[in-house]
Amino acid sequence: MAMAGHAPGGALPLILLVVSCCGLVVSGASPAAAALRRVGSGSGGLCDQLLLPLGYPCTEHNVETKDGFLLSLQHIPHGKNKAADSTGPPVFLQHGLFQGGDTWFINSAEQSLGYILADNGFDVWIGNVRGTRWSKGHSTFSVHDKLFWDWSWQELAEYDLLAMLGYVYTVTQSKILYVGHSQGTIMGLAALTMPEIVKMISSSALLCPISYLDHVSASFVLRAVAMHLDQMLVTMGIHQLNFRSDMGVQIIDSLCDGEHVDCNNLLSAITGENCCFNTSRIDYYLEYEPHPSSTKNLHHLFQMIRKGTFAKYDYGLLGNLRRYGHLRPPAFDLSSIPESLPIWMGYGGLDALADVTDVQRTIRELGSTPELLYIGDYGHIDFVMSVKAKDDVYVDLIRFLRENGWHNSY
Ligand SMILES: *[C@@H]1O[C@H](CO)[C@@H](O)[C@H](O)[C@H]1NC(C)=O
Repeated sequence: MAMAGHAPGGALPLILLVVSCCGLVVSGASPAAAALRRVGSGSGGLCDQLLLPLGYPCTEHNVETKDGFLLSLQHIPHGKNKAADSTGPPVFLQHGLFQGGDTWFINSAEQSLGYILADNGFDVWIGNVRGTRWSKGHSTFSVHDKLFWDWSWQELAEYDLLAMLGYVYTVTQSKILYVGHSQGTIMGLAALTMPEIVKMISSSALLCPISYLDHVSASFVLRAVAMHLDQMLVTMGIHQLNFRSDMGVQIIDSLCDGEHVDCNNLLSAITGENCCFNTSRIDYYLEYEPHPSSTKNLHHLFQMIRKGTFAKYDYGLLGNLRRYGHLRPPAFDLSSIPESLPIWMGYGGLDALADVTDVQRTIRELGSTPELLYIGDYGHIDFVMSVKAKDDVYVDLIRFLRENGWHNSY
């Protein structure tokens, strides 16, 4: 299952060369990197692996995007003890980068948002973007093809969200409550500027909301940006970004040089400190995460960090002219999100990815005034994995969802 980014034969020595040319030390497999090599051995889908064993109802659904990707969605129509006919409004959960739908079920049923929503009477739907373990299909390409990885979060918004939300909208005949975390909020905010998507949404709750990224402070990320990891991978013809592959492990080892980036706690180096992460559960988390993404997605995210924009993928002057009819990629205009759409945001003072300065800019540019929940000692991962997220975050999030979407049949 561990898959090398589809690289030409000489790629490994090449990255060693490139890496040593840039003054970094390749240290051999660090414990953190070694742990990443272990890949979950369970078979079957997300329902089979996580929800059904705990006694929750769960069905697998498949949708095809306009550009041929085959995505899986999971449906949890009610909680463990509820009658099937007590179904509330559909709520759609969209995971973040290097994560999958498993994120919403990875702590105990009392702690994880997916279970909690089902037990609170919501009709829960789980999104899984292209390239993750649960959505690895395509009508013509395989994961070994370069073109399978030719996308960024822009396509995740324009194609994956359109297909997944369209399916839920059709099946439930109801507007949808959209909940996203991290990249799931980048996708969500971009998608909410699109009339064909926003018409399906009744309200939106965003955990660690991101549209601007130029105040990212995570040491691992800043190091990767400074050494142009994105362009390096493109040059080397590596299109799949998989931290479980040999290449992924090399990348981590080369960035974690102990001087600029201390990866004793890799998660903190990548996301910032997290107040309430359950370290006894790491082996279990690593059964499922990290999921793969694309090099092009990394490049797009780094464009945002470098340029301070929330815009479509930058193909360079000529490429932009050809694709967009402009020299610069068009920006996603946050002020075009309908003012009537209720938005709730939860963000943390220790988040090194969704920095407070960037979150405040996002809020300023929205036409509406979102409801805010700020937690000073919360980091990026706490909002989905904190052992006390239920009390700290989900109680208020559920209040918002109840007030803004319980009667929204169309
Ligand atoms: C942390 O994870 C361990 C292992 O799964 C579990 O036994 C423990 O209850 C968890 N701690 C909390 C506070 O949830």
